[in-house]
Amino acid sequence: MLDIAERGASLDPIETASQSDLAALQLERMRWSLTHAYENVKFYKDSFDEAGVHPDDLQDLSDLAKFPFTTKQDLRDHYPFGMFAVPREEICRIHASSGTTGKPTVVGYTKKDIETWASVVARSIRAAGGKAGDKVHIAYGYGLFTGGLGAHYGAEAAGCTVIPMSGGMTERQVRLIEDFKPEIIMVTPSYMLSILDEYRKEGLDPRKSSIKIGIFGAEPWTNSMREEIEQAFDMHAVDIYGLSEVMGPGVAQECVETKDGLHIWEDHFYPEIIDPVTGDVLPDGSEGELVFTTLTKEGLPIIRYRTRDLTRLLPGTARKMRRMEKITGRSDDMMIVRGVNVFPTQIEEQMLRCEGLSPHYQIELRREGRMDKLMVNVEATEAAQNEAERKASAKELAVHVKNNIGISVGVDVGLPNSIERSQGKAKRVVDLRPKEE
Ligand code: DLL
Repeated sequence: MLDIAERGASLDPIETASQSDLAALQLERMRWSLTHAYENVKFYKDSFDEAGVHPDDLQDLSDLAKFPFTTKQDLRDHYPFGMFAVPREEICRIHASSGTTGKPTVVGYTKKDIETWASVVARSIRAAGGKAGDKVHIAYGYGLFTGGLGAHYGAEAAGCTVIPMSGGMTERQVRLIEDFKPEIIMVTPSYMLSILDEYRKEGLDPRKSSIKIGIFGAEPWTNSMREEIEQAFDMHAVDIYGLSEVMGPGVAQECVETKDGLHIWEDHFYPEIIDPVTGDVLPDGSEGELVFTTLTKEGLPIIRYRTRDLTRLLPGTARKMRRMEKITGRSDDMMIVRGVNVFPTQIEEQMLRCEGLSPHYQIELRREGRMDKLMVNVEATEAAQNEAERKASAKELAVHVKNNIGISVGVDVGLPNSIERSQGKAKRVVDLRPKEE
C-alpha cells in the first residue's frame, strides 16, 4: 500500500489554529449566519420569532441551543426556492436530492458558496492523502446529486487532473482506470464493489490497478467493508461525509494516516449532537442525532438542520477539528425487529465475517402473521457456490447475527451475481410489509 507519510499533506492555516481561535471565528460567523437567515428568509424570521429568539441573543456558541431546528420537511414546504437567502439571480447552481417520497429538496449556491465548497472538498482530498497532480477518477453521479460536481470542483481546486466519469457503464469505468491510471477514485463504496466485480470478470488483477486512494461516502459502510476493499485493491479507503442540505460532500473527511472517524470542517459547518427524542443538546462523546448549522453559506443558510444521521462527536486527532464517528445508520434506516433496533451496517459487519459470502446484500422486511421477519439476501463467492456450501454459509451468517445482534433472521445465499448491483447509493432495505392503514 502507498506510504502516505511520504506525501506530506499541506494544511489550510485554520486547520492548525488553536481551539480558542477556531471558537472565536465560529462565533463571529455564526452571528453572521443567524442574522443573514433571519433577515433574508421568511421561514427563519417566522420560526425565530415564534421561538422568541433573535440573532442578537447569541453571545456564546452554546446559545445556539436556543434556536429552533430546521428539518427536511421545512425545505419541502418551501419548495422550490423559498429557503433561498439571496435574490434568485445570485444563485449560480441548484442541486436537489431526489428523495424516495414527496417533493425533492432543492438547494442553491452563490458563486462564493461554490468556491467554499470546492475548498472544503480540496481539503478533504488532501486529508485523504491526495495531492496536486494526482489523477482523480470521479464515479459519483453527476447531475442534481451533489456527489459528482462536488467532488469535481474540489479535485480541480486541489490541483488534480479530473476524470469526470459519473456513475454507470462499469466496463467502461474499468477500461478507463486501466488506460488513464488514476491514483485516486471517488465513488460510493457499494459501486466500488461493482467495479471490483468487473475487474474479476475480465480476469484483471485489481491489486495491480493504479488506484492508491479511494474516497468513499454518500452511504453508510463499515470498517469491515473498508478492509475488504483495501485488501482487494491494495489501496487506502477513507470516508467522506456530507449532505446536500448542508453543502454536499466535504462536510467531514477521514484522514488517511489515522482512519479513525471523520474530521468535521468546523470553520464552515458547526455540529451538535442532540437526543433525537427530546431535542436536548448532548455533550461530546454521547451518541445521538447529528445537527448542523452552516457558518458561511450565502445562498441557503441552514440553521440547526436535523440530519437524522446517528453518531458521536470526538476530539481531534490527525487534525485539530473535532471528529464524528463513522456513521452506522440514519434513524430512517433503523429496523425494529421484535423490539431490537437493527441497522443494515450491523448485518454487513456479520456478513463480512463469513468466508463464503461476497459483500453484496439486500435486506427484506416481511410480515409473517403478526411478526416482522428480516430476510438477508446475500450471494456466495465464486469459491463457495455449490448448494451445500451455500447452505453452510447461510447457517453461519444466521448464527453470527443471532449471537451478536440478538435477532433471528432468514438468510438466502444465492449464486454469484444474483444480487442487483449498485450504480450509486445502494438500496439496502426493501420493505415488503403491508402499509399501515
Ligand atoms: O450523499 C453527499 C455526498 C456525496 C457525500 C458524495 C459523500 C460523497 P445526499 O444525497 O443529500 O448527499 O445524502 C446525504 O447520505 O445524511 C447520510 O445519511 C448519507 N451519507 C453521506 N455520506 C455518508 C457517509 C450526499 N460517509 C445523506 N457515511 C446523509 C454514511 C453518509 N452516510
